[in-house]
Amino acid sequence: MKLDMKQQLIKKCLFPAAGYGTRFLPATKATPKEMLPVLTKPLIQYGVEEALDAGISTMAIVTGRGKRAIEDHFDISYELEHQIKGTSKESLLEEIRSVITKCTFSYTRQTEMKGLGHAILCGETLIGNEPFAVILADDLCKGDGKGVLAQMVALYKEYQCSIVAIEEIHKEETNKYGVIDGELIADGIYRVNNMVEKPDPKDAPTNLAIIGRYILTPDIFDIIRDTKPGKGGEIQITDALLEQAKQGKVLAYKFKGKRFDCGSVDDFVEATNYFYALQNIRNK
Ligand code: G1P
Repeated sequence: MKLDMKQQLIKKCLFPAAGYGTRFLPATKATPKEMLPVLTKPLIQYGVEEALDAGISTMAIVTGRGKRAIEDHFDISYELEHQIKGTSKESLLEEIRSVITKCTFSYTRQTEMKGLGHAILCGETLIGNEPFAVILADDLCKGDGKGVLAQMVALYKEYQCSIVAIEEIHKEETNKYGVIDGELIADGIYRVNNMVEKPDPKDAPTNLAIIGRYILTPDIFDIIRDTKPGKGGEIQITDALLEQAKQGKVLAYKFKGKRFDCGSVDDFVEATNYFYALQNIRNK
């Protein structure tokens, strides 16, 4: 499909990263959960690399108190570079150095924890009036062929509306996710007509769960501003997206690949084993 000149490209990716990560205490007492490593790389770096792979180089990060390590990670450490210059360890910094060179990073703080919708609204100042991607770094994704966000950006070029990534889950787990319902319009693509934040299994419309990848059109900011606190007393992005969905403007996309919920210890261990096996295959 040819790109319409008026069409806006996705140039920015927002990372809500202010949450406490209480499921990983005590590890997250003084370390941001986004900095927990799978092998030698922190979760948020996997997210940034996924955004880069989707052609996005402007990273907008919503942080909070105790999250300064994220800013330091995406900056050059001259002292460290000096220490390891000319040693065998130098190559260990190559990947992050290349990420730093290719991207720009900007930060804002969410001062109160009022939910994911609120965190995204805090990012408005960094995003402005253009469509953007959102990555929740504790959902670690490995796309099949193409990265998951790259798959979604390709879809956005065609449909020009908000998109959420989904996967099928066991029905008894619907209370951990935003759940969608919709009409199948193409292979793996639904036009969303309903979405509910963390419903009880008995109330869930389907077992299609939203995972931490979104493409949002900028009208979402005004909608969030008008969104009342929902599940857990928090401002939910799922509730705001439902308003767009009522106008037929939200797609749900069954991504191709794997996703690990690295906010849970079980999946974190599974992700570590998976990426370790992958690395060993590559090194052979
Ligand atoms: C958030 C969203 C939820 C979504 C999930 C994906 O929940 O509110 O709709 O399904 O991310 O990871 P959280 O995991 O932050 O509680």
